[in-house]
Amino acid sequence: MNISVTTNPVKKIKTELLVFPFTTGSLKKIAGGILHDFGYDAAVLRDFKAEAGELVILYGAMGKTSAERVALLGIGDGKKISDCRKSSTALAGKALDLKIEAVAVDFSGVKGFASSAKSSVASICSAFIEGCYSGSYRFDRLKSDKLKKKKDESDKKKEIVELILRSDPAQCSAVEDGVAAGIITGSCQNMARDLVNLPGNLLQAEDISAAAVESGQRCGFDVKVFGKEEIEDLGMGGLLAVNRGSLHPPTFTILDYKPEGKAARTVALVGKGVTFDSGGISLKPSEGMGEMKSDMSGAASVIGAVEAVARLGLPIRVIGLIPATDNMPSGSATKPGDVITTYSGITVEVGNTDAEGRLILADALSYAKKQYNPDVIVDLATLTGACIVALGYSVAGLFSNDDRLADDIFQAGQLTGEKVWRMPLWEEYDEMIKSDVADVSNLGARGAGSVTASRFLEKFIDGHKKWAHIDIAGPSFSAKGAKVSGATGFGVRLLVELLKKWS
Ligand code: BES
Ligand code: MN
Ligand code: ZN
Repeated sequence: MNISVTTNPVKKIKTELLVFPFTTGSLKKIAGGILHDFGYDAAVLRDFKAEAGELVILYGAMGKTSAERVALLGIGDGKKISDCRKSSTALAGKALDLKIEAVAVDFSGVKGFASSAKSSVASICSAFIEGCYSGSYRFDRLKSDKLKKKKDESDKKKEIVELILRSDPAQCSAVEDGVAAGIITGSCQNMARDLVNLPGNLLQAEDISAAAVESGQRCGFDVKVFGKEEIEDLGMGGLLAVNRGSLHPPTFTILDYKPEGKAARTVALVGKGVTFDSGGISLKPSEGMGEMKSDMSGAASVIGAVEAVARLGLPIRVIGLIPATDNMPSGSATKPGDVITTYSGITVEVGNTDAEGRLILADALSYAKKQYNPDVIVDLATLTGACIVALGYSVAGLFSNDDRLADDIFQAGQLTGEKVWRMPLWEEYDEMIKSDVADVSNLGARGAGSVTASRFLEKFIDGHKKWAHIDIAGPSFSAKGAKVSGATGFGVRLLVELLKKWS
């Protein structure tokens, strides 16, 4: 996507689709005038209400403007920045469906939107661009016609090719700043979606590591990859236990972004990287099992977030830690009842081999604490089906031992539309993960499955005081048949917003 900002008058802009965004308030004030100016019938306003994402395309104004079509785009009541993102997501999706390659948006009123949303011009623009990336994303690279083409050729067609934002001269530099930030977050989120959408046969643990290495080389941060031998030497018994049934070696990847000057703080981001979760010996039912290629969504979002922070050059040190493997049954696989020793020395009875995420996260969390002692640890994981039962498919579960941290994450969720809802993390639940033979069991009793999973994780942070776990099992992947099915990249925007706040 080639995005530019212009201060030229809107009518002079050559484009296939010229878009006027309206809040419900600005609709009443100025829409009539604009329609009149282009020679359109104002009767369209009987149906168009400027709800977030609402879009009407009008034809036949050629001669009055250099654009082939004009569109009215609703951005809601103007109070929520996330509505702005939602509207551009809808716009970009429509443009893609209509194969419109050049779009221009009149952002002359951006100052008004920014003040009604209690935000800045740059943030509004950034959110708008993020939505453009999100809405124009399609995963089609495995279709045979795309496979035949060279990579750069096939990449072009999946996005709007040219996007122009029209700004008042006074706002121009803020608009440009916002656009630049939006491009970074939007493209990093789409990169995460690509990784998640790749099926298990095309993305193994080593491929996740390779993606991190490539990102580090391109964006200037260090990446270290531990292979199976190093993981054995480190004694990461959780990761090794999950990997036992696999034909592919596990990896443990560390992404380390250090800012140029002094870092405001050090944050560790841990992402679950199960490239395919069959359940192992505790095999999952076959229905919907294919979706378990998305069980490395946490890992993908962590890579996306670290890359974004590096490209934004935020003054904060961010360490991404990714334990990766698939979870497969075989003669050598870990069995229910087995007892393993994790990196921390804590022993775990494997009550169910399908509760594998917490085993690999246990090692990564202990490693993060021991090796880096960061100011904050946040982990992202498609950890439990129970979290979907509790919160559904659009909201993530949040568990934290620190109220301020939980509040910061909650607020970042409201701003980015990647919403989280806090759940309890009380010691009452420990009763449910007791083991008769080991220090702890990876399997809870009936009920509160996402809470017992979180209590399990907490045992491995060794008393760290600022830790949050985000269970993204619901929002990371949309089932077949959804408007845009597959990976959402949930977590990239959330983490980037959080890290911006701390910068
Ligand atoms: N990866 C799954 C959780 C999941 C389920 C993610 C649905 C996305 C959609 C996880 O490894 C798992 O299997 N959890 C089990 C835990 C249980 C065995 C204690 C679950 O939620 O059923
Ligand atoms: Mn599982
Ligand atoms: Zn899993």
